[in-house]
Amino acid sequence: MPDRMRKVLHAFAALADLGEEIAETSDFEEMVRSALHVVLGALGVRRGAVAEVERETASLRFVATRGFGESLPADVSLPLKTEGLHAAAKSNGNGGGAHALSKSELARVEREIKERFEGGAVEVVSTLVVRGELVGVIVLGGKASGVEFDAEDRELVRSLGRHIGVGLNNHRLLREVERRAEENRRLYEDLKDIYKDTVRAFAAAIDCKDKYTQGHSERVGKYSEIIAREMGWSEEEVEGIAVAGYLHDIGKLVVDREIINAPYRIDAKQSSELNRHPAAGYEILRPINHPFADIPLMARYHHERPDGRGYPDGLKDEEIPIGAKIVSLADSFDAMTTDRPYRRRRSFEEVITDFRRNAGRQFSPEVVAAFCRALLKEAHGETRPRQIIRLLGKGYVEEQALPALEQLISDLDSGTHVAAGQG
Ligand SMILES: [Fe+2]
Repeated sequence: MPDRMRKVLHAFAALADLGEEIAETSDFEEMVRSALHVVLGALGVRRGAVAEVERETASLRFVATRGFGESLPADVSLPLKTEGLHAAAKSNGNGGGAHALSKSELARVEREIKERFEGGAVEVVSTLVVRGELVGVIVLGGKASGVEFDAEDRELVRSLGRHIGVGLNNHRLLREVERRAEENRRLYEDLKDIYKDTVRAFAAAIDCKDKYTQGHSERVGKYSEIIAREMGWSEEEVEGIAVAGYLHDIGKLVVDREIINAPYRIDAKQSSELNRHPAAGYEILRPINHPFADIPLMARYHHERPDGRGYPDGLKDEEIPIGAKIVSLADSFDAMTTDRPYRRRRSFEEVITDFRRNAGRQFSPEVVAAFCRALLKEAHGETRPRQIIRLLGKGYVEEQALPALEQLISDLDSGTHVAAGQG
């Protein structure tokens, strides 16, 4: 076989090998090492390296090296003086379009790299260009045979280099996508934190206005969260209902402070003023782009009742969103279990009696059942930490009341909780 023919076949084989290596190796560094191996083998060269361009620093990072020993270990970075590369780094840093290097700029990069290797250690520098952009270089020492590189050898290096360049570029793009995804995730987390802090600040502002119910909004948020989790809601929905609990009384910000803080039972006129707060809360919350669904509606309907005697819209049963039913129960439970200026809080047994009497009237039976179950689990030590019990204070949930709680749950589940004479 003529020499020339053998060379062409050899080049084809090398290209095929390289394509396989690049397609099949998932580990990037491993892929580059194999590619370098193929190139060295195809040309009969003992010394060579592949570097990728790091645009942020306008330098070359040597991913794979062979035969240079200590003078060029892998993973070393070589800053480049070439202006074109700095311009590329800059335009990249500004998020602008890619900067394509001209032929003369590429030639300058090649010269610069050659100069770095003294004593003719490097004979060929081939720039790897993908869509006009410099993505890396192949550096080769002289042939083992001592024969000079001819035009065909250089063409073969360029052909192999195109594959390696695409491999480097894909890797770079993948890293870029990963970096952006990570950045987006972090931004989203930051945004969520800001939202949560804002919600907390509002809850504190609401509770500040009402001096007798300090911490009310926070407790309602906590109870709502516990009920929703007990009802099998997803963690994201649970987060959402906690926010609704925090904000349910935000409409009180527009109600007269004297009415909210009245140390006596308010009259009908004052009461109708106070009852504006769910609709006012809805108006306040509606323009906000909440990361959770239905927050404004939960505020609007937290004083609605399944029997239709609630406000502001007098909705019945299924017309009331389940989230509003949860907040409503959490709200009432906290009202019953905290002291007010005109009355002491109720005993735990009285609360159970109230739940029984009002399940189906003021409260949704399934929500009451869920709350009682969560409370019972805490009492039995099945859920830790005990959040409801801690908020209620030591000794509030008495051991001897637990059978009544269990009975209520089973009656609610079977629909037999309605007392005689109740309809
Ligand atoms: Fe309210």
